[in-house]
Amino acid sequence: MSDAPVIAIDGPSGSGKGAVATAIAARTGFHLLDSGALYRVLGIAAHKAETDLTDPREVAFLATSLQIEFGTNGPDSVSLNGEDVSLDIRTDLGSVMASRVGAIPAARAALHERQLAFRQEPGLVADGRDMGTVVFPDAALKIFLTASVEERAQRRYKQLIAKGIGAILPDLLRDLKERDERDSQRPVSPLKPAEDAIVLDSTDLSLDEVIDRVWNLAVTRLPGLAS
Ligand code: C5P
Repeated sequence: MSDAPVIAIDGPSGSGKGAVATAIAARTGFHLLDSGALYRVLGIAAHKAETDLTDPREVAFLATSLQIEFGTNGPDSVSLNGEDVSLDIRTDLGSVMASRVGAIPAARAALHERQLAFRQEPGLVADGRDMGTVVFPDAALKIFLTASVEERAQRRYKQLIAKGIGAILPDLLRDLKERDERDSQRPVSPLKPAEDAIVLDSTDLSLDEVIDRVWNLAVTRLPGLAS
């Protein structure tokens, strides 16, 4: 297995970890793993196949047999068995199904190997919930990015409105709270900072300020990046 350096960025929904991870990957030239997208694809696949989520063997079989490809139809695109599911996985159904399959140990185990395969030279920026705690415990830098739930709901609201998608702020707030609860209370890989993670609260920071802070930390841990 590769021992290429890993920068792990974990945190709750709407903390901005995806945008930060994308920017840091571009700046470092490292590969990018959006682990949430894998859970979202599995969730959508389970929904389409009407998989029985109470049967661990069925879920594990589905998770190992899926053909998932990133970036074939543009930088953010994701395909499932050859079909573009980039938009499907970002729907509310995609979020709910991701969080449901994410609570199933057999699903997590089946996705584990797929995530490790992203670790390749010159390095990897991985974002998710358990990158620093479970999947890449030896990451060179572990960031736990957070923000108040009200601020995260506001950000999500602005994003949706900017895309011309109707949104109701109190509903978004309620959904985020429910997802936080499910992700942090589940027995397997709950959302929590690794012991050696640096917790960064972005409530009062702009995206650029967060990216600068993470970059400065990355350069300190991986001095080769600065050259
Ligand atoms: O990061 P994103 O919001 O796309 O993740 C969607 C869902 O997938 C999360 O709410 C969580 O339940 C699950 N997930 C997970 N472990 C990860 C990444 C995502 O359980 N490493």
